[in-house]
Amino acid sequence: MYYLVANWKSHKHVADVRHWFETVELALAETDEVAVVVCPPAVHLFDAYDLVQQQSLPVTLGMQDISAYPFGKYTGAIAAEMVAEQVDYAIVGHSERRRYFGETDSEVAKKVDMCLMHEIIPIVCVDEPYLESQLHVIDSQAYDSMIVAYEPLAAIGSGEPDTPEHAQQVARSIRDLTTSKVPVLYGGSVDAENVGLYLNQSLIDGALVGGASLDARDWSALVQAVV
Ligand code: PGA
Repeated sequence: MYYLVANWKSHKHVADVRHWFETVELALAETDEVAVVVCPPAVHLFDAYDLVQQQSLPVTLGMQDISAYPFGKYTGAIAAEMVAEQVDYAIVGHSERRRYFGETDSEVAKKVDMCLMHEIIPIVCVDEPYLESQLHVIDSQAYDSMIVAYEPLAAIGSGEPDTPEHAQQVARSIRDLTTSKVPVLYGGSVDAENVGLYLNQSLIDGALVGGASLDARDWSALVQAVV
């Protein structure tokens, strides 16, 4: 199973979301071998959900982040329980969350727990040289139920992706530190042209894509390159 995960980050007005889902072409993605996951900003999640349902698109939805807390007095936070019906996945510990919002390894571990309590698959973002501390803070029982995304900082949004060979080596380290079965994604300047190079690596199970997911045509091309 390959995972193609679109991370829209803080982009798009309401009207852009509708336009994206109306123009995206995923007919070829109706296969059991490729999971297409779209992570819109949380404020657009329910619109996205309705659009996916109305058009029966072969897409599942994900969050870009999830609260480390349950329902309760946590102003501004979105608890896993609130979105469990709409999403199957949640990105946790993205480097931008760690960098701009001060997210720590132990908060990321709590987010993983909250996801799993509500049957949301966490996509845990990690980078060298912190793989061990970022992964070992997570309860090892979660290793069988999560996905790990290797996202080298220098490659994110820079147009300078890591080499597929090095990404493969890191995927091996991630498996050694967790389990041999954990799906590993590569993220960082992936586009329709280079996605195949990563997915051809035996230990890489998909891609986490920012910039090349924003335009529906770019994303359609990327999905079609894989399918
Ligand atoms: P990029 O972002 O594809 O724009 O490099 C990837 C990410 O940050 O998830």
